[in-house]
Amino acid sequence: MALISKSLVCCLFLMFGQLVSSVTGLELSVSTSGGNESSSILYGLMFEDYQHSGDGGIHGQLLQNNGFQGPNITLVAYDAIGDATLAVDTENPLSTAITRSLKVSVPEGASGEVGFSNAGYWGIPVNEDEYWNSFYIKGDYNGPITLRLVGAASGTVYASNTINVVSNSSEFSYIETKYTANQAPDGNNLWTLSFNASSVAGSELYFDLFQLFHSTFNNRTNGLKPGIVDVLTGLNPSFLRFPGGNNLEGWTPDSRWKWNETIGPLTDRPGRNGSWGYTNTDALGLNEYFLWAHDMNLVPLLGVWDGLSLNGPIITGDALDPYVDDVLNEIEYIIGDTSTTYGALRASHGFPDPWPLTHVEIGNEDHLHNGGPTYAERFTAFYNAINSAYPQLTIITSTPLYLPDPKPAGIWLDWHLYSTMGYMVEQFNKFDNVDRAFPWVVTEYACTKWNNGTNVPYPIMQSSVAEAVFMIGIERNSDIVKMAAYAPLLQLENYTQWTPNLIPFNQNPNSIIKTTSYYVQQLFSTNRGATILPVTSDEGFNPVYYVASLSSDNSTYYVKLANYNGTAQDVNITIDGASSGKFTLLSNGSPLATNDLTETQITPQTSSVEATDGKFQVHLPAWTVALLAAS
Ligand code: AHR
Repeated sequence: MALISKSLVCCLFLMFGQLVSSVTGLELSVSTSGGNESSSILYGLMFEDYQHSGDGGIHGQLLQNNGFQGPNITLVAYDAIGDATLAVDTENPLSTAITRSLKVSVPEGASGEVGFSNAGYWGIPVNEDEYWNSFYIKGDYNGPITLRLVGAASGTVYASNTINVVSNSSEFSYIETKYTANQAPDGNNLWTLSFNASSVAGSELYFDLFQLFHSTFNNRTNGLKPGIVDVLTGLNPSFLRFPGGNNLEGWTPDSRWKWNETIGPLTDRPGRNGSWGYTNTDALGLNEYFLWAHDMNLVPLLGVWDGLSLNGPIITGDALDPYVDDVLNEIEYIIGDTSTTYGALRASHGFPDPWPLTHVEIGNEDHLHNGGPTYAERFTAFYNAINSAYPQLTIITSTPLYLPDPKPAGIWLDWHLYSTMGYMVEQFNKFDNVDRAFPWVVTEYACTKWNNGTNVPYPIMQSSVAEAVFMIGIERNSDIVKMAAYAPLLQLENYTQWTPNLIPFNQNPNSIIKTTSYYVQQLFSTNRGATILPVTSDEGFNPVYYVASLSSDNSTYYVKLANYNGTAQDVNITIDGASSGKFTLLSNGSPLATNDLTETQITPQTSSVEATDGKFQVHLPAWTVALLAAS
């Protein structure tokens, strides 16, 4: 790699008897005509509940283990207050799905306040906000119950709400209330429920399905955290892929993500042992995913289970039939009108209008976990059934490998890339060389490692520039690459299972981090052209990579640039008719620049630029991602 660029040299020379200035550097000439149409849904989001990105993350419910779901009976997150004794009870189920409750026993002669606390998902965000709180109670009680939000270390009470509750021992009573909280300085907070010990002394009360929400995105019931949604909105995404990823697959067929157990009232959702080793409440269920997509104006990309789980057995042949039927039922639930069985079921759950499903992916990474040899057969079974019932849907393979031959017309192919920085840069021209008869999507990618294989804990500028190089390759081919998404998207830092991630967070105020890779995604996605324009250059790619496009209203030219090099580069860009614009730079010259929960080292900086003698002269420091938006 040439470390000394001619672009470093700025010279003066005499021409026609006059002293004129001339800047040398890479010459790019953007054609203002021709080119290819770019996918209108190119950049989007890949989501699965993973490292508590859902429960404890974007989903707004703040209390952990709130319905005692999952394979293990556990009191995780709970502690007794006063003389109370806590146990998970199986004799007093709330419903056929929520089969356990919290038994709170109070000893003879007890007095004062007793109860329990819940520590949330490694804390509870307590903001100056209104909190909505609900729970079920069973047992003879007539008296005050106090709900509080309290600093775990400080004991400071940020919210306190006392309600009068009447309950009996024959059935659960549902209680809900609202209260406001003061701002806590950090997320190290508890939610507490306490009651009059003397009224229950020598006996017990049962509680279940606690829910605590602060305000939610679009004020949805059972909704999303607005702070995380805001940061996602900043990415200007076009699609949402869900529910996985590995979390779709399960470890066994029976522990796969089951759509029909994630719908309807929360009392009907048993939760599940997710593929990532913790209980998913499934409060963020099928309809909540579609609401999320609806509220953020995202094209939903639904993953459906196709016989492959992470630890087998793999389902093939006739044994697949019930699973194919299950997917057809799922799709009918999503897009069937209310005259259909499952469309009517959806309507009964409060969603009479079909969801706008257009894209379905069959399985996840079926080349892994021994799935490859049977994928063609399994894909074909699902493809045939879905395509014949719903020919309007675009069907996507979960891998470009092991596909039926010939491939059915109209399908799209998903390819994932987690790699070292060097390998990611090498994939710059991947899509220059693929069969253009079938569109591609890259619904998971990230630079995860140094070239020696060492993991990168947070995105750093060098890894983010490598991703930008890869994305430039994607954008140059975005006539056939239809969708691309970084993964993993969200990471509750206290439950890290994979690094790096696009958006780490914890429960502290202002703790949602925009990493360097976030800013790269943002720069690319918020400055999208409708047409990718030809660019001519006096040098090849490397170390500077570039792609140019024209906005859909023909008003703005975008030139995206990446300098994957430790040496600064100058670039002169000619765009006929364009004379001014904005130049946005993400770089501080260091390959190690990073944003994490302790420090934000780097943010994009935008300045105005004018063309001189028809050229925009831009300077790219070492390890830079940049954008020229000109008109
Ligand atoms: O993004 C993490 C995991 O990586 C996904 O669940 C899986 O699809 C891929 O292997």
